[in-house]
Amino acid sequence: MAQRISLTRYLVEQQRVDGLIPSQLRLLLEVVARACKSISQAVNKGSLGGVLGSADSENVQGEVQKKLDIIANEVLIEANEWGGHLAAMASEEMDGIYLVPNRYPQGEYLLLFDPLDGSSNIDVNVSIGTIFSVLKKPEGDRGVEEGDFLQAGHQQVAAGYCVYGPQTTLVLTVGDGVAMFTLDREQGSFVLTQENVRIPEDTKEFAINMSNMRHWDAPVKRYIDECLQGREGPRGKDFNMRWIASMVADVHRILTRGGVFMYPWDKREPNKPGKLRLLYEANPMGWLIEQAGGAATNGKQRILDIQPSQLHERVSVILGSKNEVERVTSYHSSL
Ligand code: AHG
Ligand code: MN
Ligand code: MN
Repeated sequence: MAQRISLTRYLVEQQRVDGLIPSQLRLLLEVVARACKSISQAVNKGSLGGVLGSADSENVQGEVQKKLDIIANEVLIEANEWGGHLAAMASEEMDGIYLVPNRYPQGEYLLLFDPLDGSSNIDVNVSIGTIFSVLKKPEGDRGVEEGDFLQAGHQQVAAGYCVYGPQTTLVLTVGDGVAMFTLDREQGSFVLTQENVRIPEDTKEFAINMSNMRHWDAPVKRYIDECLQGREGPRGKDFNMRWIASMVADVHRILTRGGVFMYPWDKREPNKPGKLRLLYEANPMGWLIEQAGGAATNGKQRILDIQPSQLHERVSVILGSKNEVERVTSYHSSL
């Protein structure tokens, strides 16, 4: 039997080969993985653990929080605050940044997360996940401020997600390709199950919430309309559609077999650039997709080049198989 490579061994060996994972970052990634393991346990218990349903509270974006949104947020904070590898954290579920308390040593990294992605799927037993992004704290002795988190996506030093589905899978990049680790529940460890993940450049599968079609703008309408015309239309091939409503699960499918995912701006809330969050969702996913040979844009520019101006900034997202993303993006400039 081929030798099993644990997440720990993978991180140690990657550092030896290309020096991309210094020890503080390795500790950080191991702690995040441990937190994901415990979120996975809570998710698995479902009703038996009393974790389903809403929590009678709203987050800063006005969304009703689910019990698991709050549990996952607490698990990530408690796991990460004491290790000395972090200076501060930011989460989709917290209004402001969370500074590592003074009683603990301060590290050089900033951790950002969407603790529970796909909240609407929790109670219906459909795949959900955790998304995370790691930045370096800017140099200097002063304390961390919210502005320190406003770094463009290309400055990330690590990013990943854990999907809680039929399997629990952790997907990671430190800028040297994408690796996938499957949770072995008997051993309690993540085991490397795929390296050098590559997304096919072409695809016949798209993911978008079609119920919003009447609210889209012209380039997105044009692209989807051409896909729907199938073999008889300008694309000359039939397209399939999937929409899971958990970005982690949709992105995981795309990393596995290709496809294009879109959550575009739409007229329902014209003043917001989109629904998804730049720092907790689009940046980490955009980097993973690029690292696997795909592309990620907001229709006008590369997601990773957007300079954030707010912690909870939203963005329009088009990501996945390179040629399709380039096509949708080109429709934005030609209309
Ligand atoms: P979250 O549960 O973290 O708020 O994110 C949900 C996001 C994303 O995961 C998914 O792609 C999208 O919202 C689904 O939105 P619709 O329900 O509007 O389709
Ligand atoms: Mn989310
Ligand atoms: Mn969430």
